[in-house]
Amino acid sequence: MGQLIEVVVTLIGKAALFDLDRTLTGQDGLSFPEPPDDTKSPPELLAQRLFAIDDQIERVHVLSNLVTVTRAGEWDDEALAVATDVLSKLLVFYEIESPEDRIARLRNEHYNATITDIRAHGPDLWVIKVTPDESIKPFKPGQYTTLGLGFWERRADEAMEDFEDDQDQIEKMARRSYSVASSMVGEDGILVEAHPADVEFYVVQVRPDETEIPALTPRIFSRLIGDRIYMGRKFTGRYTLDGVQPTDNLVLLATGTGEAPHNTMTAELLRNGHRGKVVSVVCVRYRRDLAYTSQHATVEGRYPNYRHVALTTREPENEGNKLYIQDLITSGRLEDELGAPLDPVNTHAFLCGNPAMIGLPSQSDDGSLQFPERVGVSELLHGKGFTIDRPKERGNVHYEEYWRDL
Ligand SMILES: Cc1cc2nc3c(=O)[nH]c(=O)nc-3n(C[C@H](O)[C@H](O)[C@H](O)COP(=O)(O)OP(=O)(O)OC[C@H]3O[C@@H](n4cnc5c(N)ncnc54)[C@H](O)[C@@H]3O)c2cc1C
Ligand SMILES: NC(=O)c1ccc[n+]([C@@H]2O[C@H](COP(=O)([O-])OP(=O)(O)OC[C@H]3O[C@@H](n4cnc5c(N)ncnc54)[C@H](OP(=O)(O)O)[C@@H]3O)[C@@H](O)[C@H]2O)c1
Repeated sequence: MGQLIEVVVTLIGKAALFDLDRTLTGQDGLSFPEPPDDTKSPPELLAQRLFAIDDQIERVHVLSNLVTVTRAGEWDDEALAVATDVLSKLLVFYEIESPEDRIARLRNEHYNATITDIRAHGPDLWVIKVTPDESIKPFKPGQYTTLGLGFWERRADEAMEDFEDDQDQIEKMARRSYSVASSMVGEDGILVEAHPADVEFYVVQVRPDETEIPALTPRIFSRLIGDRIYMGRKFTGRYTLDGVQPTDNLVLLATGTGEAPHNTMTAELLRNGHRGKVVSVVCVRYRRDLAYTSQHATVEGRYPNYRHVALTTREPENEGNKLYIQDLITSGRLEDELGAPLDPVNTHAFLCGNPAMIGLPSQSDDGSLQFPERVGVSELLHGKGFTIDRPKERGNVHYEEYWRDL
């Protein structure tokens, strides 16, 4: 609730000048020859109330702390008293909120967690830690939750969003899914423990292009340690190690930040003394797009059943010599790295990231599968007798698409 405004009135013919003890507009002023449709700002609300309360009013003009009200008839004591009352009580019901107060209120209303660490691997690739206000509910390695920031937060890029048609949009939240990431070992080289007090995420900043202005990542990349954020309370997804036996071999195949859940799974497998072989492949554009390289090296050094392979596609040496994960399968290199054949009887494949790498098929009514034109990993593994994991039929090719190919 705002306070009463003090009002001093001066009459000049048909115009009453109300001098207020606070400012309602900038130096341009606002003129209302009729009641405004909107009541989003105090001057609009004031004009609408004055027109509503006195049908003789012809015009309301608001300039800084001066409100000039022109009336068709003479001003009498009663008309002046009514208008003065409306003016003095304007802010009792309408607290003027500064932009800073509005942002503080919205953050308070929507955020439930704090960014407690940011490890920047270049301007567009971050490993962040988020500590929720309430304790973290248990989750399985491979699952994901939601991060969110309000549209009111500033962007790290130069893109201009157009909220013209929907002014309310600015008070809404941009929410997206993020796999729970995990470092596998600490600085001491010891395996990290499960479910600590904070949650790690591995996030790439998506750049705007002609077709899309990304909503969330440019806002995440404008944040600092200590800033508040929204994190979903629920962790979800069936991209987990359920059904994997301790002696099974695993191939973890990722593009970009798709290695996030694989590292969380690897830490879990090693904590549980997994005896099968594990090979983790990640394919990125440039070497600088790899944030966990030293972690993989440490784990490889300590666990003979763990192998890591990183592929780049846009470094100078990749010119005319680009290898995708699919190429590792067709050439037999994936089996060499695994040290075992890709046998569907004892092998699980986990595919995460770019949907074109995963290459999921659609299914016809007769049950036959139509794979995409560009060959993805799913088709190659299907050809070797693997089954794609579906909600109604457990399989050994598990997938998490980070977006949908249109
Ligand atoms: C289950 C699930 C888990 C996810 N986990 C992660 C994660 O751990 N780390 C992460 O960075 N992203 C993850 N994503 C993607 C994430 O949800 C967002 O889509 C992404 O961060 C971009 O958000 P945005 O609002 O900036 O852009 P959006 O408008 O959501 O996306 C715009 C476009 O950016 C591209 N894009 C989106 N995500 C990626 C990505 N990760 N790598 C490359 N290109 C991308 C796509 O072309 C997409 O159409 C996950 C998505 C899903 C469905
Ligand atoms: N990575 C960067 O340097 C960088 C920098 C700034 C911003 N970004 C933003 O990050 C977003 C995504 O970048 P990202 O590189 O992490 O993800 P990405 O575009 O999915 O690329 C990751 C890897 O997947 C490969 N790939 C592409 N199509 C494939 C297919 N059909 N089969 C198998 N592999 C395939 C890519 O090779 P190709 O080289 O052939 O595409 C690349 O090596 C972009 O939208 C961009 O806005 C990235």
